[in-house]
Amino acid sequence: MARIAYVNGRYVRRDMGVVSIDDRGYQFAEGVYEVIWVQKGNLVDLEHHLDRLGCSLESLNIPWPMGRPALKVVVGEVARRNLIGNGHVYIQATRGVARRTHLVPEDTPSSLVVTASREGFRDARVHEQGVAVITIPDIRWKRCDIKSIALLPNILGKQKASREKAFDAWQVNGHDIITEGTTTNAWIVAHSGEVITHPANRSILSGITRRVVMELAAGEGLDVCERPFTVAEACGAKEAFMTSTTNYVVPVVSIDGHKVGDGRPGPVTSGLYKRYLAHMAGEQEGEGE
Ligand code: PDD
Repeated sequence: MARIAYVNGRYVRRDMGVVSIDDRGYQFAEGVYEVIWVQKGNLVDLEHHLDRLGCSLESLNIPWPMGRPALKVVVGEVARRNLIGNGHVYIQATRGVARRTHLVPEDTPSSLVVTASREGFRDARVHEQGVAVITIPDIRWKRCDIKSIALLPNILGKQKASREKAFDAWQVNGHDIITEGTTTNAWIVAHSGEVITHPANRSILSGITRRVVMELAAGEGLDVCERPFTVAEACGAKEAFMTSTTNYVVPVVSIDGHKVGDGRPGPVTSGLYKRYLAHMAGEQEGEGE
C-alpha cells in the first residue's frame, strides 16, 4: 500500500511529495513541528499538541497554515489513509516559499506537510530493563520552548549517545543543571520520594508527555516538583526516567556509567509507565472520547 502524505493542499503518494527549494523551512529551518501518537486509531492528546503548535507558530510569527478545525481533519485523514493503528502523525509547518532573504514578505502563506508512520517493532526491554544515558553540554539557543525543526544540537547529541551505546544524551547547562534529553524530558525521583523535572521555561521543550505524567503522578498522590536538578543529584537519585510522545516513560538506570538506584527500573517509574499506557488507551477515569 502506498503511503500518503498531505503536502500544501493535496494528498499525494508520500514518495511523490514535493516542496519548493525556496521553502524557508529548507533554506532557514524556519518552521515548527509536532509528533502526535496514534493509539488504536485515536490521536493521543491532540488538543495539547495543537495548543503547543499554536505557541510555536506564534513565537516565530508564522501564520497557521489552515484553521485549527481543518488541520484536525487533515491530521485524522492522513492517519486514516495510512491505516495507522498504532504509530504517529507528523505535522510540519514552515514560513512558506519566498525569495531567499532574511526578511520575508508579510503575506507569504505558510507551508504544511502532514505524514504518518506505523509503529514498528518496539523493544519491550527498554521499559523492562531501563536504559543508559550520557550527559553532554547543552549548546542550544535560548528558545528551546519552541518546537523548531532546527535540531542540529539534538541530532549531534543523539548521534553521540548512539556511538556510546546509550539511549539518549541528557543536556547539561553551564550550571551543571540537566535541562532535558535530545528528544525527551528528563526526570528524577529523589530519596524523599519527590518526583522532579526541570521547570517548563525557555530552556526546555514543554513536553506533552511531561505534562500528562505530571498530572498522573499528582493523581497518584506523588509529590511532583518542577525545579532544576544537577548531574550529581541525578546520579545519586533513587530513580530516573524520561518522557516523550514516541517513548512514553522510559526508566534510566545509568547516567554516564553511574548506576542510578539499584540499577533497575524503580517502582515510581514503572507505576507511571503503566498509568501512561492506560492514559493512551483512554482508560483513565472520565477520559472517554
Ligand atoms: N520529541 N524535549 C525534546 C527536545 C523533544 O524533542 C521532545 C519530543 C520532548 C518530549 O515532548 P513530547 O512529550 O511532547 O513528545 C522533549 C519528539 C517526539 C520528536 O522530536 O520526535
